[in-house]
Amino acid sequence: MTSPTLRRATPDDLDGLVDLLLDVVETGGASVGFLSPLSRERAARFWRGALEAGARGERVVLVALDADARLVGTVQLVLDLPDNQPHRADVAKMQVHSRARQRGLGAALLAAIEEEARAAGRSVLVLDTVTGSPAERLYARHGWQRVGVIPDYAQWPDGRPCDSTFFYKRLPSPAPSRR
Ligand SMILES: CC(C)(COP(=O)(O)OP(=O)(O)OC[C@H]1O[C@@H](n2cnc3c(N)ncnc32)[C@H](O)[C@@H]1OP(=O)(O)O)[C@@H](O)C(=O)NCCC(=O)NCCS
Repeated sequence: MTSPTLRRATPDDLDGLVDLLLDVVETGGASVGFLSPLSRERAARFWRGALEAGARGERVVLVALDADARLVGTVQLVLDLPDNQPHRADVAKMQVHSRARQRGLGAALLAAIEEEARAAGRSVLVLDTVTGSPAERLYARHGWQRVGVIPDYAQWPDGRPCDSTFFYKRLPSPAPSRR
């Protein structure tokens, strides 16, 4: 596969992000915060909010484009956290289109969002994901530490309960500047 292009999302990515979320939830049946049936309108409302938060600097939204400039992946870094957690960020909403999986795109998105966290001076990252999912293997493979499982934490798109595994990762703090 030609290397995907990874960059920050812009408002022009809205339609591609909606298509991706519908594929992940309706075709793939993944638990990423939404129930089925997921309407285009509901998906667009979510992405508009995320893009606006990105424009305000409260989160970073990355997108991945394939060689035909189709939007095939996304991930977010949530920076807007309580005042006493200025060193922390959450990784959220990692998604790769069903036709683009198992080629290393998830790993590339994860590396890119960790780089965004480093650049933002964040040294403790946290996320949760469905227990036993491909995403759980992805994070474990890339140095994330499993904290534990919360049973019945969320739901599958069809409403069945699902367990979530919580992870954290420490990033090296930037070296103190020399005087
Ligand atoms: C989790 C998810 C983002 C992974 O995306 P991906 O692009 O398939 O991730 P990768 O390609 O980096 O890794 C996936 C698998 O492909 C394998 N792989 C990577 N490159 C490969 C290649 N060139 N050839 C063959 N296999 C490859 C990896 O080893 C991994 O194997 P595993 O499933 O046995 O652990 C994707 O499955 C997804 O969007 N799931 C639905 C949404 C979701 O659950 N998101 C998580 C929210 S927390």
